[in-house]
Amino acid sequence: MNSKSRLQVRVHEIRPESDNVVSVELRAFENGQAATLPPFTPGSHIDLHLPIGIRSYSLTNSPAEAHRYVVAVGLPDASRGGSAYVHRDLKAGADLEISAPRNMFPLVDADGPVTLIAGGIGITPIRCMFNALREAGREVTLLYCARSRQTAAFADELGAQPGVTFHFDNEAGGPPDLDRLLASAPPSTHFYCCGPSPMLSAYEQAGARQSIATEHIHLERFSPAEDAPAVSKEDDGVFTVELARSGTAVQVLPGQSLLDALLDAGADASYSCREGICGACETTVIEGTPDHRDSVLSDAEKAASKTMMICVSRCTGKRLVLDL
Ligand code: FES
Repeated sequence: MNSKSRLQVRVHEIRPESDNVVSVELRAFENGQAATLPPFTPGSHIDLHLPIGIRSYSLTNSPAEAHRYVVAVGLPDASRGGSAYVHRDLKAGADLEISAPRNMFPLVDADGPVTLIAGGIGITPIRCMFNALREAGREVTLLYCARSRQTAAFADELGAQPGVTFHFDNEAGGPPDLDRLLASAPPSTHFYCCGPSPMLSAYEQAGARQSIATEHIHLERFSPAEDAPAVSKEDDGVFTVELARSGTAVQVLPGQSLLDALLDAGADASYSCREGICGACETTVIEGTPDHRDSVLSDAEKAASKTMMICVSRCTGKRLVLDL
C-alpha cells in the first residue's frame, strides 16, 4: 500500500467466533474522541500493518456502522505468521495502522436473486454481503461450508436466518454439490463465492459445466489460484519499466519483482498481499505486453492487458510503460 491511504485505529475487542476464528473490532479516535471511519461496501477488505508484515482481511460488519471495522481471522494449519500473530499476540487496546477499505469483490448492480457460497473463513465478506442484501430486501441464499460446526464462525447467528444452509465436511463426508446448487438457481442469479482455492476451482468448473455466464460468477481468493503461473521462472529476463508520470526508468532483474524494483527506486507504488491475489497493486499499462502471473484478472482482462498486478507479473518483452 502507499502512504496516502493509512489510518490509525485501536483494537477495541477480540472475540472468539469459533474454535479457530476470532473477530477483531477496530475503532478510530481523534483527540481522544471516537471518530468516524471511511465508508465501505460489502466485499471490502482492509490491510493490517502488523509487526510481522502487512496482511489483508475482509470486513464482516455492516457498512452502516461508521464507528467500527470488524474483521474475522482464522488460524489455518499453515499460518504465514499474520493469523498466528492476531490469535496469539494482538490484544485489545493495541494501536494499529491499517489501510482504508478497498473492494475487489463488490456486489454488482443488479436486481435479480443472489446465491452466496462461503468456505471456512471465506464467510467473512459473505456474511457482510448476506446481511446487507437481506436488509435491502433482496432475494438471497447462502451455502456455508466448513470442516465442522465447531470451526464455522458466526454459525449460530447465520443459522437463525432464512435462506441459509450449512455443509459440514465431517458430517457430509464429501464436498458440496455445486453443480446442483448452480443449476437450481433462476437464470438471472448472480453467484458469489469466497473460500479456499480447491473450492473456488470446483465452483468455477461447476459454473462452466452449467453454462452460467462468467459475468454472473464472482469470487474472491485468499490464496493464489491452483493453476496460477509460477511467480518466478528460470528464464525470466531483464526488462525496463518506464514510469510515465515521473519519466523515471527502472530496470527489473531476474529474481526481482517489478514491485520491488519500483520500491527500491523510491516509487510510491500501492501493494498489499504481494501474491497476486488482492488487487491492491493493479496498475494501468500504457505500452508493452505484461506477462500476467496473478490470480485477480480474468482471462479476458489479461488478454486486454489494460492493467497488471505489478507484485507478481512481469513483461513478455524488454520494455513496459506504466501509469505511475
Ligand atoms: S499486492 Fe496484492 S495483487 Fe499485488
